[in-house]
Amino acid sequence: MKRGILLSSSLLFSFTLLAGEAPIGLLPPASDFDIPRLQKQGTATQLFVDGRPFLALAGELGNNSATSLDYMKPVWPQLAASKLNTVLAGVSWGQIEPAEGQFDFTIVDGIIQQARSHDLHLVLLWFASWKNGLSSYPPPWVKKDFDRFPRAQIAEGAAPWPVLTISEVPRATVKSNLSIELLTPFSDANRDADARAFAALMRHVKQIDGRKHTVIMIQVENEVGMQGDTRDHSPVANRAFAGPVPAELMDYLKRHKDTLIPEFRRVWDAAGSKTSGTWEEVFGKGIATDEIFMAWQFARYVGRVAAAGKAEYPIPMYVNAALPRTSALGDTAVTGREPGVTGYFAVGGPMDDVLDVWRAGAPQIDILSPDAYNDFADWCAKYDRSGNPLFIPESRGGPEGAARMIYTFGRHNAIGYSPMGIERAAAPDPDLTAAYDLIAQLASLISEHQGNGTMSAVMLRSPSDPPQKVPVGKYTLEAAFITPRRIAGEPPPQGNRTPAAAIFIAAGPDEYYAAGSGLTVSFAPNTPGPPLAGLATVEEGVFVKGRWVPGRRLEGDDSDEGQFLMLGSKKTIQHFTLYRYR
Ligand code: DGJ
Repeated sequence: MKRGILLSSSLLFSFTLLAGEAPIGLLPPASDFDIPRLQKQGTATQLFVDGRPFLALAGELGNNSATSLDYMKPVWPQLAASKLNTVLAGVSWGQIEPAEGQFDFTIVDGIIQQARSHDLHLVLLWFASWKNGLSSYPPPWVKKDFDRFPRAQIAEGAAPWPVLTISEVPRATVKSNLSIELLTPFSDANRDADARAFAALMRHVKQIDGRKHTVIMIQVENEVGMQGDTRDHSPVANRAFAGPVPAELMDYLKRHKDTLIPEFRRVWDAAGSKTSGTWEEVFGKGIATDEIFMAWQFARYVGRVAAAGKAEYPIPMYVNAALPRTSALGDTAVTGREPGVTGYFAVGGPMDDVLDVWRAGAPQIDILSPDAYNDFADWCAKYDRSGNPLFIPESRGGPEGAARMIYTFGRHNAIGYSPMGIERAAAPDPDLTAAYDLIAQLASLISEHQGNGTMSAVMLRSPSDPPQKVPVGKYTLEAAFITPRRIAGEPPPQGNRTPAAAIFIAAGPDEYYAAGSGLTVSFAPNTPGPPLAGLATVEEGVFVKGRWVPGRRLEGDDSDEGQFLMLGSKKTIQHFTLYRYR
Protein backbone atom coordinates (compact mmCIF):
# COMPACT_ATOMS: atom_id res chain seq x y z
CA MET A 1 0.00 0.00 0.00
CA LYS A 2 2.60 2.65 1.20
CA ARG A 3 4.96 1.83 -1.71
CA GLY A 4 2.02 2.44 -4.11
CA ILE A 5 1.41 5.93 -2.65
CA LEU A 6 5.13 6.77 -2.74
CA LEU A 7 5.44 5.64 -6.36
CA SER A 8 2.30 7.47 -7.51
CA SER A 9 3.36 10.60 -5.60
CA SER A 10 6.87 10.54 -7.08
CA LEU A 11 5.40 10.07 -10.57
CA LEU A 12 3.06 12.97 -9.85
CA PHE A 13 6.03 14.87 -8.44
CA SER A 14 8.06 14.46 -11.61
CA PHE A 15 5.13 15.63 -13.75
CA THR A 16 4.67 18.70 -11.56
CA LEU A 17 8.43 19.33 -11.59
CA LEU A 18 8.21 19.36 -15.35
CA ALA A 19 5.34 21.74 -14.91
CA GLY A 20 7.38 23.96 -12.51
CA GLU A 21 6.82 24.46 -8.72
CA ALA A 22 5.90 21.19 -6.86
CA PRO A 23 2.75 21.65 -4.69
CA ILE A 24 3.41 21.37 -0.92
CA GLY A 25 3.03 17.95 0.74
CA LEU A 26 3.18 15.84 -2.41
CA LEU A 27 6.97 15.47 -2.37
CA PRO A 28 8.40 12.05 -1.48
CA PRO A 29 10.25 12.28 1.87
CA ALA A 30 13.72 13.86 1.58
CA SER A 31 16.61 11.50 2.45
CA ASP A 32 18.79 12.91 5.23
CA PHE A 33 21.84 12.51 2.97
CA ASP A 34 21.22 15.43 0.65
CA ILE A 35 19.82 17.93 3.11
CA PRO A 36 22.15 20.75 4.20
CA ARG A 37 24.78 19.32 6.54
CA LEU A 38 28.24 19.91 8.01
CA GLN A 39 31.28 17.88 6.95
CA LYS A 40 34.88 17.87 8.13
CA GLN A 41 37.82 18.56 5.79
CA GLY A 42 41.20 18.56 7.50
CA THR A 43 40.97 21.05 10.37
CA ALA A 44 37.95 22.75 8.79
CA THR A 45 34.21 22.06 8.98
CA GLN A 46 32.33 22.86 5.79
CA LEU A 47 28.65 23.44 5.12
CA PHE A 48 27.36 21.19 2.35
CA VAL A 49 24.29 22.20 0.32
CA ASP A 50 22.98 19.94 -2.43
CA GLY A 51 25.97 17.67 -1.80
CA ARG A 52 28.58 20.39 -2.46
CA PRO A 53 30.64 22.66 -0.16
CA PHE A 54 28.85 25.99 0.25
CA LEU A 55 30.26 29.32 1.40
CA ALA A 56 27.54 31.52 2.91
CA LEU A 57 28.03 35.01 1.48
CA ALA A 58 25.40 36.38 3.74
CA GLY A 59 23.65 39.40 5.18
CA GLU A 60 21.21 39.67 8.10
CA LEU A 61 17.94 41.54 7.69
CA GLY A 62 16.62 43.91 10.33
CA ASN A 63 14.96 42.02 13.19
CA ASN A 64 11.43 42.25 11.84
CA SER A 65 11.89 42.74 8.11
CA ALA A 66 10.81 39.17 7.30
CA THR A 67 7.52 39.51 9.21
CA SER A 68 5.97 41.29 6.20
CA LEU A 69 5.99 40.00 2.62
CA ASP A 70 5.10 43.45 1.26
CA TYR A 71 7.99 45.04 3.12
CA MET A 72 10.34 42.42 1.65
CA LYS A 73 9.11 42.57 -1.97
CA PRO A 74 11.34 45.55 -2.99
CA VAL A 75 14.20 44.32 -0.80
CA TRP A 76 14.96 41.00 -2.56
CA PRO A 77 16.11 42.51 -5.90
CA GLN A 78 18.45 44.81 -3.95
CA LEU A 79 19.88 41.85 -2.05
CA ALA A 80 20.31 39.82 -5.23
CA ALA A 81 22.08 42.79 -6.85
CA SER A 82 24.60 42.90 -4.01
CA LYS A 83 25.82 39.41 -5.00
CA LEU A 84 25.22 37.71 -1.66
CA ASN A 85 23.86 34.16 -1.79
CA THR A 86 22.29 33.84 1.68
CA VAL A 87 19.95 35.98 3.77
CA LEU A 88 19.53 35.69 7.56
CA ALA A 89 15.85 36.26 8.33
CA GLY A 90 14.05 36.27 11.66
CA VAL A 91 11.00 34.06 12.38
CA SER A 92 8.88 35.33 15.26
CA TRP A 93 7.39 32.71 17.63
CA GLY A 94 4.53 35.10 18.36
CA GLN A 95 3.75 35.45 14.64
CA ILE A 96 3.69 31.71 13.79
CA GLU A 97 1.77 30.57 16.93
CA PRO A 98 -0.73 33.38 17.69
CA ALA A 99 -2.82 30.96 19.79
CA GLU A 100 -1.52 27.91 21.58
CA GLY A 101 -1.20 24.99 19.18
CA GLN A 102 -2.46 26.99 16.22
CA PHE A 103 0.29 27.56 13.68
CA ASP A 104 0.25 29.96 10.76
CA PHE A 105 3.15 29.58 8.34
CA THR A 106 1.86 31.96 5.66
CA ILE A 107 4.71 34.42 6.17
CA VAL A 108 7.37 31.71 6.47
CA ASP A 109 6.11 30.15 3.22
CA GLY A 110 6.12 33.54 1.54
CA ILE A 111 9.64 34.40 2.64
CA ILE A 112 10.94 31.02 1.42
CA GLN A 113 9.18 31.43 -1.94
CA GLN A 114 10.45 35.00 -2.32
CA ALA A 115 14.04 34.01 -1.53
CA ARG A 116 13.79 31.03 -3.85
CA SER A 117 12.49 33.19 -6.72
CA HIS A 118 15.61 35.37 -6.33
CA ASP A 119 17.86 32.30 -6.21
CA LEU A 120 18.88 33.10 -2.64
CA HIS A 121 19.32 30.77 0.34
CA LEU A 122 18.03 31.45 3.83
CA VAL A 123 19.24 31.03 7.38
CA LEU A 124 16.17 31.27 9.62
CA LEU A 125 16.62 32.94 13.02
CA TRP A 126 14.26 31.43 15.61
CA PHE A 127 13.30 34.49 17.67
CA ALA A 128 11.41 32.74 20.48
CA SER A 129 12.05 32.55 24.21
CA TRP A 130 15.03 34.92 24.03
CA LYS A 131 16.34 37.81 22.03
CA ASN A 132 19.22 39.99 23.30
CA GLY A 133 18.91 38.69 26.84
CA LEU A 134 15.18 39.49 27.08
CA SER A 135 11.88 37.95 25.92
CA SER A 136 10.08 40.21 23.43
CA TYR A 137 9.19 37.46 20.89
CA PRO A 138 7.10 34.89 22.80
CA PRO A 139 3.40 35.05 21.85
CA PRO A 140 1.06 37.06 24.12
CA TRP A 141 -0.54 33.84 25.47
CA VAL A 142 2.85 33.00 26.91
CA LYS A 143 3.73 36.50 28.12
CA LYS A 144 0.41 37.00 29.89
CA ASP A 145 0.38 33.66 31.72
CA PHE A 146 3.40 34.40 33.95
CA ASP A 147 2.44 31.74 36.50
CA ARG A 148 2.52 29.00 33.88
CA PHE A 149 5.47 30.61 32.05
CA PRO A 150 7.59 32.17 34.83
CA ARG A 151 10.15 34.92 34.60
CA ALA A 152 13.74 35.19 35.70
CA GLN A 153 14.37 37.44 38.67
CA ILE A 154 17.15 39.82 39.59
CA ALA A 155 18.17 39.99 43.22
CA GLU A 156 17.86 42.71 45.76
CA GLY A 157 20.63 45.24 45.08
CA ALA A 158 20.89 44.49 41.39
CA ALA A 159 20.28 47.21 38.81
CA PRO A 160 17.13 46.82 36.72
CA TRP A 161 17.33 47.12 32.91
CA PRO A 162 17.94 49.51 31.05
CA VAL A 163 19.83 51.67 33.55
CA LEU A 164 22.45 48.96 33.32
CA THR A 165 24.37 50.19 30.28
CA ILE A 166 24.53 53.87 31.13
CA SER A 167 27.40 53.30 33.54
CA GLU A 168 27.86 56.97 34.39
CA VAL A 169 24.35 57.08 35.90
CA PRO A 170 24.34 55.87 39.54
CA ARG A 171 22.72 52.44 39.27
CA ALA A 172 19.38 52.36 41.01
CA THR A 173 19.04 49.04 42.78
CA VAL A 174 16.00 46.89 43.53
CA LYS A 175 14.74 46.47 47.05
CA SER A 176 13.66 42.81 46.70
CA ASN A 177 13.73 40.12 44.03
CA LEU A 178 12.30 41.59 40.83
CA SER A 179 10.93 39.70 37.83
CA ILE A 180 12.28 40.90 34.53
CA GLU A 181 10.92 40.47 30.99
CA LEU A 182 12.96 37.30 30.56
CA LEU A 183 11.49 33.77 30.50
CA THR A 184 13.45 31.85 33.11
CA PRO A 185 15.56 29.02 31.67
CA PHE A 186 14.70 27.00 34.78
CA SER A 187 11.09 26.37 33.69
CA ASP A 188 10.22 23.17 31.79
CA ALA A 189 6.92 24.77 30.72
CA ASN A 190 8.79 27.63 28.99
CA ARG A 191 11.17 25.20 27.37
CA ASP A 192 8.54 22.72 26.19
CA ALA A 193 6.28 25.42 24.71
CA ASP A 194 9.23 26.79 22.76
CA ALA A 195 10.33 23.31 21.68
CA ARG A 196 6.83 22.39 20.46
CA ALA A 197 6.64 25.52 18.33
CA PHE A 198 10.16 25.04 16.98
CA ALA A 199 9.41 21.42 16.11
CA ALA A 200 6.29 22.56 14.24
CA LEU A 201 8.35 25.09 12.31
CA MET A 202 11.05 22.54 11.37
CA ARG A 203 8.42 19.95 10.39
CA HIS A 204 6.89 22.58 8.10
CA VAL A 205 10.21 23.72 6.63
CA LYS A 206 11.06 20.11 5.82
CA GLN A 207 7.67 19.67 4.17
CA ILE A 208 8.00 22.71 1.89
CA ASP A 209 11.77 22.86 1.47
CA GLY A 210 13.11 19.39 2.31
CA ARG A 211 14.13 18.90 -1.31
CA LYS A 212 14.80 22.42 -2.46
CA HIS A 213 17.17 23.44 0.36
CA THR A 214 16.46 27.15 0.25
CA VAL A 215 16.83 27.04 4.03
CA ILE A 216 20.37 25.90 4.79
CA MET A 217 20.84 26.56 8.51
CA ILE A 218 18.94 27.63 11.62
CA GLN A 219 19.89 30.00 14.45
CA VAL A 220 18.21 28.90 17.67
CA GLU A 221 17.16 31.93 19.76
CA ASN A 222 19.24 35.16 19.61
CA GLU A 223 22.00 36.37 21.94
CA VAL A 224 20.62 34.50 24.93
CA GLY A 225 21.74 35.32 28.44
CA MET A 226 20.79 37.00 31.69
CA GLN A 227 20.38 40.76 31.95
CA GLY A 228 20.51 42.97 35.03
CA ASP A 229 22.23 40.49 37.32
CA THR A 230 24.93 37.84 37.28
CA ARG A 231 22.40 35.00 37.58
CA ASP A 232 18.68 34.29 37.84
CA HIS A 233 17.57 34.64 41.47
CA SER A 234 14.08 33.22 41.06
CA PRO A 235 13.15 30.54 43.66
CA VAL A 236 13.58 27.65 41.16
CA ALA A 237 16.99 29.09 40.14
CA ASN A 238 18.10 29.51 43.75
CA ARG A 239 17.21 25.87 44.48
CA ALA A 240 19.24 24.74 41.48
CA PHE A 241 22.19 26.95 42.48
CA ALA A 242 22.22 25.45 45.96
CA GLY A 243 22.09 21.93 44.48
CA PRO A 244 24.85 19.75 43.00
CA VAL A 245 26.47 20.41 39.62
CA PRO A 246 24.71 17.91 37.30
CA ALA A 247 26.62 14.67 36.74
CA GLU A 248 26.22 15.20 32.98
CA LEU A 249 28.32 18.34 33.11
CA MET A 250 30.89 16.84 35.48
CA ASP A 251 31.21 13.74 33.29
CA TYR A 252 31.83 15.92 30.23
CA LEU A 253 34.45 17.98 32.06
CA LYS A 254 36.21 14.88 33.33
CA ARG A 255 36.20 13.28 29.87
CA HIS A 256 37.53 16.44 28.18
CA LYS A 257 39.78 17.66 30.99
CA ASP A 258 42.88 17.99 28.76
CA THR A 259 41.18 19.90 25.97
CA LEU A 260 39.02 22.32 27.95
CA ILE A 261 39.17 26.04 27.04
CA PRO A 262 42.10 27.34 29.17
CA GLU A 263 40.18 30.27 30.69
CA PHE A 264 37.50 27.86 31.87
CA ARG A 265 39.99 25.24 33.10
CA ARG A 266 41.73 27.93 35.15
CA VAL A 267 38.54 28.65 37.08
CA TRP A 268 37.88 24.96 37.78
CA ASP A 269 41.49 24.32 38.81
CA ALA A 270 41.53 27.41 41.02
CA ALA A 271 38.67 25.85 42.97
CA GLY A 272 40.45 22.52 43.25
CA SER A 273 39.14 20.68 40.17
CA LYS A 274 36.54 18.90 42.25
CA THR A 275 34.37 16.43 40.37
CA SER A 276 31.25 16.76 42.52
CA GLY A 277 29.56 19.26 44.83
CA THR A 278 27.51 22.42 44.59
CA TRP A 279 28.29 25.03 41.97
CA GLU A 280 30.25 27.10 44.43
CA GLU A 281 32.06 24.05 45.83
CA VAL A 282 33.16 22.98 42.34
CA PHE A 283 33.86 26.37 40.71
CA GLY A 284 34.37 28.64 43.71
CA LYS A 285 32.49 31.72 44.86
CA GLY A 286 32.10 34.58 42.37
CA ILE A 287 30.47 35.79 39.19
CA ALA A 288 32.45 33.32 37.12
CA THR A 289 30.44 30.56 38.82
CA ASP A 290 27.21 32.48 38.19
CA GLU A 291 28.12 32.62 34.51
CA ILE A 292 28.95 28.89 34.33
CA PHE A 293 25.69 28.07 36.18
CA MET A 294 23.61 30.19 33.77
CA ALA A 295 25.51 28.91 30.72
CA TRP A 296 24.64 25.34 31.70
CA GLN A 297 20.96 26.14 32.15
CA PHE A 298 20.61 28.17 28.94
CA ALA A 299 22.51 25.48 27.02
CA ARG A 300 20.28 22.71 28.40
CA TYR A 301 17.16 24.61 27.40
CA VAL A 302 18.39 25.59 23.93
CA GLY A 303 19.71 22.06 23.43
CA ARG A 304 16.26 20.59 24.06
CA VAL A 305 14.64 23.08 21.72
CA ALA A 306 17.21 22.27 19.01
CA ALA A 307 16.72 18.53 19.57
CA ALA A 308 12.97 18.90 19.02
CA GLY A 309 13.63 20.72 15.76
CA LYS A 310 16.32 18.33 14.56
CA ALA A 311 14.02 15.38 15.21
CA GLU A 312 11.87 16.85 12.46
CA TYR A 313 14.55 18.19 10.13
CA PRO A 314 18.22 17.80 11.15
CA ILE A 315 19.88 20.64 9.27
CA PRO A 316 22.79 22.52 10.92
CA MET A 317 21.91 24.70 13.91
CA TYR A 318 23.93 27.38 15.71
CA VAL A 319 23.65 29.92 18.51
CA ASN A 320 24.96 33.49 18.43
CA ALA A 321 26.66 35.36 21.26
CA ALA A 322 26.47 38.98 22.35
CA LEU A 323 30.05 40.05 22.98
CA PRO A 324 31.47 42.59 25.42
CA ARG A 325 32.59 45.89 23.86
CA THR A 326 35.82 46.13 25.81
CA SER A 327 38.90 45.02 23.93
CA ALA A 328 40.71 43.55 26.94
CA LEU A 329 39.55 40.14 25.79
CA GLY A 330 41.16 38.49 28.70
CA ASP A 331 38.74 39.98 31.18
CA THR A 332 35.67 37.87 30.51
CA ALA A 333 33.29 37.32 33.43
CA VAL A 334 34.80 33.88 33.92
CA THR A 335 37.97 35.68 34.95
CA GLY A 336 36.20 38.41 36.87
CA ARG A 337 34.61 41.09 34.63
CA GLU A 338 31.48 42.61 36.23
CA PRO A 339 28.52 42.31 33.80
CA GLY A 340 26.97 45.56 32.67
CA VAL A 341 29.78 47.83 33.77
CA THR A 342 31.51 47.30 30.45
CA GLY A 343 28.31 47.63 28.45
CA TYR A 344 25.92 45.08 26.97
CA PHE A 345 26.54 41.46 28.02
CA ALA A 346 24.24 38.52 28.45
CA VAL A 347 25.41 36.30 31.31
CA GLY A 348 25.41 32.62 30.41
CA GLY A 349 25.32 33.22 26.67
CA PRO A 350 27.50 31.13 24.30
CA MET A 351 30.71 32.98 25.08
CA ASP A 352 33.90 31.37 23.79
CA ASP A 353 35.17 30.73 27.31
CA VAL A 354 32.12 28.67 28.29
CA LEU A 355 32.14 26.77 25.01
CA ASP A 356 32.69 23.51 26.91
CA VAL A 357 29.62 24.12 29.06
CA TRP A 358 27.51 24.79 25.97
CA ARG A 359 28.89 21.72 24.26
CA ALA A 360 28.03 19.57 27.27
CA GLY A 361 24.58 21.11 27.65
CA ALA A 362 23.57 21.44 23.99
CA PRO A 363 25.29 18.76 21.88
CA GLN A 364 22.61 19.32 19.19
CA ILE A 365 24.04 22.80 18.56
CA ASP A 366 26.72 22.54 15.87
CA ILE A 367 28.30 25.99 16.06
CA LEU A 368 28.80 28.78 18.61
CA SER A 369 28.93 32.04 16.70
CA PRO A 370 30.23 35.48 17.72
CA ASP A 371 28.25 38.61 16.82
CA ALA A 372 31.58 40.30 16.26
CA TYR A 373 31.17 44.03 15.76
CA ASN A 374 34.40 45.10 17.54
CA ASP A 375 37.87 43.54 18.03
CA PHE A 376 37.03 41.35 15.04
CA ALA A 377 40.28 39.43 14.54
CA ASP A 378 40.49 38.66 18.28
CA TRP A 379 36.98 37.24 18.44
CA CYS A 380 37.57 35.15 15.29
CA ALA A 381 40.61 33.61 16.96
CA LYS A 382 38.65 32.96 20.16
CA TYR A 383 35.74 31.22 18.42
CA ASP A 384 37.87 29.34 15.87
CA ARG A 385 39.25 26.95 18.45
CA SER A 386 38.48 23.61 20.06
CA GLY A 387 37.02 22.45 16.73
CA ASN A 388 34.24 25.08 16.75
CA PRO A 389 33.54 26.03 13.10
CA LEU A 390 33.46 29.80 12.49
CA PHE A 391 30.26 31.39 11.24
CA ILE A 392 29.78 35.16 11.70
CA PRO A 393 26.03 35.94 11.74
CA GLU A 394 26.40 39.60 12.68
CA SER A 395 29.16 42.09 11.98
CA ARG A 396 29.80 45.27 10.00
CA GLY A 397 29.31 46.16 6.34
CA GLY A 398 31.10 48.72 4.18
CA PRO A 399 34.86 48.64 3.53
CA GLU A 400 35.48 47.20 7.00
CA GLY A 401 32.98 44.42 6.39
CA ALA A 402 34.47 43.63 2.99
CA ALA A 403 37.93 43.21 4.52
CA ARG A 404 36.55 41.12 7.38
CA MET A 405 34.76 38.79 4.96
CA ILE A 406 37.93 38.08 2.95
CA TYR A 407 39.90 37.58 6.17
CA THR A 408 37.34 35.26 7.74
CA PHE A 409 37.12 32.83 4.81
CA GLY A 410 40.88 32.76 4.20
CA ARG A 411 42.27 32.80 7.74
CA HIS A 412 39.58 30.91 9.68
CA ASN A 413 38.04 28.49 7.12
CA ALA A 414 34.76 30.21 7.84
CA ILE A 415 31.40 28.81 6.82
CA GLY A 416 29.99 32.29 6.33
CA TYR A 417 30.12 36.01 7.02
CA SER A 418 27.07 38.26 7.46
CA PRO A 419 26.83 42.02 8.07
CA MET A 420 23.87 43.07 10.22
CA GLY A 421 21.01 45.13 8.76
CA ILE A 422 21.97 44.28 5.18
CA GLU A 423 18.90 45.92 3.64
CA ARG A 424 19.29 49.19 5.52
CA ALA A 425 21.60 50.76 2.93
CA ALA A 426 19.65 52.50 0.12
CA ALA A 427 21.66 50.71 -2.53
CA PRO A 428 23.95 47.66 -2.55
CA ASP A 429 27.15 48.49 -0.68
CA PRO A 430 29.93 48.61 -3.38
CA ASP A 431 32.70 47.31 -1.10
CA LEU A 432 30.63 44.40 0.16
CA THR A 433 29.39 43.58 -3.33
CA ALA A 434 32.96 43.51 -4.63
CA ALA A 435 33.99 41.22 -1.77
CA TYR A 436 30.98 38.91 -2.25
CA ASP A 437 31.89 38.71 -5.95
CA LEU A 438 35.54 37.97 -5.19
CA ILE A 439 34.75 35.14 -2.78
CA ALA A 440 32.06 33.77 -5.11
CA GLN A 441 34.63 33.57 -7.91
CA LEU A 442 37.09 31.75 -5.64
CA ALA A 443 34.48 29.58 -3.89
CA SER A 444 35.48 26.20 -5.28
CA LEU A 445 39.19 26.96 -4.77
CA ILE A 446 38.57 28.09 -1.18
CA SER A 447 36.46 25.01 -0.44
CA GLU A 448 39.19 22.83 -1.90
CA HIS A 449 41.87 24.41 0.31
CA GLN A 450 39.98 24.92 3.58
CA GLY A 451 41.48 23.04 6.48
CA ASN A 452 44.69 21.81 4.87
CA GLY A 453 47.15 24.62 5.55
CA THR A 454 47.49 25.84 1.96
CA MET A 455 45.41 28.95 2.44
CA SER A 456 45.52 31.99 4.69
CA ALA A 457 44.60 35.65 4.77
CA VAL A 458 45.60 38.97 6.29
CA MET A 459 43.66 42.07 7.30
CA LEU A 460 45.29 45.46 7.99
CA ARG A 461 42.86 48.06 9.20
CA SER A 462 44.99 51.16 8.58
CA PRO A 463 48.43 52.29 7.36
CA SER A 464 49.61 52.33 10.98
CA ASP A 465 49.03 48.58 11.27
CA PRO A 466 52.40 46.74 11.06
CA PRO A 467 52.97 44.33 8.14
CA GLN A 468 51.65 40.78 8.73
CA LYS A 469 53.50 37.55 7.94
CA VAL A 470 51.62 34.35 7.12
CA PRO A 471 53.04 30.96 6.06
CA VAL A 472 51.16 29.57 3.03
CA GLY A 473 52.60 26.39 1.56
CA LYS A 474 56.38 26.57 1.02
CA TYR A 475 56.63 30.36 1.31
CA THR A 476 55.99 32.90 4.03
CA LEU A 477 54.15 35.95 2.72
CA GLU A 478 54.61 39.39 4.23
CA ALA A 479 51.77 41.82 3.52
CA ALA A 480 52.02 45.55 4.14
CA PHE A 481 49.50 48.33 3.75
CA ILE A 482 50.01 49.69 0.23
CA THR A 483 51.79 53.02 0.20
CA PRO A 484 50.88 55.43 -2.55
CA ARG A 485 53.35 55.26 -5.48
CA ARG A 486 53.82 57.73 -8.34
CA ILE A 487 52.95 55.69 -11.48
CA ALA A 488 53.79 57.33 -14.79
CA GLY A 489 50.67 58.79 -16.44
CA GLU A 490 48.47 58.09 -13.40
CA PRO A 491 46.97 60.85 -11.20
CA PRO A 492 48.93 61.37 -7.95
CA PRO A 493 47.95 58.61 -5.51
CA GLN A 494 45.30 59.56 -2.91
CA GLY A 495 46.54 57.28 -0.15
CA ASN A 496 44.30 54.33 0.52
CA ARG A 497 42.55 54.63 3.91
CA THR A 498 40.09 51.73 3.68
CA PRO A 499 40.96 48.48 5.50
CA ALA A 500 43.11 46.19 3.39
CA ALA A 501 42.72 42.42 3.20
CA ALA A 502 43.75 39.55 0.96
CA ILE A 503 43.33 35.81 0.78
CA PHE A 504 46.30 33.69 -0.40
CA ILE A 505 45.99 30.17 -1.80
CA ALA A 506 48.91 27.87 -2.64
CA ALA A 507 47.56 26.06 -5.70
CA GLY A 508 50.90 24.31 -6.24
CA PRO A 509 54.45 24.21 -4.77
CA ASP A 510 55.32 27.59 -6.40
CA GLU A 511 51.90 28.57 -7.74
CA TYR A 512 49.53 30.95 -5.92
CA TYR A 513 46.38 32.99 -6.13
CA ALA A 514 45.97 36.21 -4.19
CA ALA A 515 42.66 38.08 -3.98
CA GLY A 516 41.93 41.35 -2.24
CA SER A 517 43.03 44.98 -2.19
CA GLY A 518 45.24 47.59 -0.56
CA LEU A 519 48.41 45.53 0.00
CA THR A 520 51.91 44.90 -1.23
CA VAL A 521 53.15 41.36 -0.66
CA SER A 522 56.69 40.00 -0.53
CA PHE A 523 57.86 36.39 -0.17
CA ALA A 524 60.46 34.27 1.60
CA PRO A 525 60.93 30.51 1.32
CA ASN A 526 60.15 28.62 4.56
CA THR A 527 61.73 25.30 3.59
CA PRO A 528 65.41 24.30 3.09
CA GLY A 529 66.96 25.35 -0.29
CA PRO A 530 67.90 28.59 -2.04
CA PRO A 531 67.06 31.32 0.51
CA LEU A 532 65.66 34.04 -1.76
CA ALA A 533 62.33 34.17 -3.56
CA GLY A 534 61.21 36.13 -6.60
CA LEU A 535 58.13 36.60 -8.72
CA ALA A 536 58.37 34.45 -11.87
CA THR A 537 55.01 35.34 -13.43
CA VAL A 538 52.08 37.50 -12.36
CA GLU A 539 48.77 37.88 -14.13
CA GLU A 540 45.46 39.37 -13.08
CA GLY A 541 42.22 37.71 -14.08
CA VAL A 542 38.85 36.37 -13.08
CA PHE A 543 37.29 33.00 -12.39
CA VAL A 544 34.33 32.13 -14.61
CA LYS A 545 32.43 29.11 -13.31
CA GLY A 546 35.57 28.03 -11.49
CA ARG A 547 37.84 28.36 -14.57
CA TRP A 548 40.70 30.90 -14.47
CA VAL A 549 40.49 33.50 -17.26
CA PRO A 550 43.72 35.52 -17.33
CA GLY A 551 43.77 39.22 -18.18
CA ARG A 552 46.85 41.48 -18.15
CA ARG A 553 50.30 40.08 -17.40
CA LEU A 554 51.69 42.22 -14.59
CA GLU A 555 55.39 43.21 -14.43
CA GLY A 556 57.27 46.53 -14.23
CA ASP A 557 55.15 49.22 -12.51
CA ASP A 558 52.48 46.68 -11.55
CA SER A 559 54.86 44.57 -9.45
CA ASP A 560 57.19 47.40 -8.44
CA GLU A 561 59.74 46.01 -10.89
CA GLY A 562 59.18 42.49 -9.56
CA GLN A 563 59.76 43.36 -5.90
CA PHE A 564 56.15 42.97 -4.68
CA LEU A 565 52.81 41.58 -5.61
CA MET A 566 50.61 44.69 -5.64
CA LEU A 567 46.91 44.53 -4.85
CA GLY A 568 45.66 48.08 -5.53
CA SER A 569 42.57 49.85 -4.25
CA LYS A 570 40.19 47.82 -6.47
CA LYS A 571 39.54 44.22 -5.29
CA THR A 572 41.25 41.93 -7.81
CA ILE A 573 42.52 38.38 -8.19
CA GLN A 574 46.09 37.70 -9.25
CA HIS A 575 47.63 34.37 -10.24
CA PHE A 576 51.39 34.20 -9.76
CA THR A 577 54.32 31.82 -9.60
CA LEU A 578 57.42 32.17 -7.44
CA TYR A 579 60.99 30.93 -7.87
CA ARG A 580 63.92 30.58 -5.49
CA TYR A 581 67.51 31.69 -5.94
CA ARG A 582 70.64 32.54 -4.01
C1 DGJ B 1 22.54 42.26 18.18
C2 DGJ B 1 21.27 41.43 17.96
O1 DGJ B 1 21.59 40.07 17.82
C3 DGJ B 1 20.54 41.89 16.74
O2 DGJ B 1 19.35 41.18 16.59
C4 DGJ B 1 20.26 43.35 16.85
O3 DGJ B 1 19.44 43.55 17.94
C5 DGJ B 1 21.59 44.08 16.99
N1 DGJ B 1 22.26 43.64 18.18
C6 DGJ B 1 21.38 45.56 17.08
O4 DGJ B 1 20.77 45.97 15.92
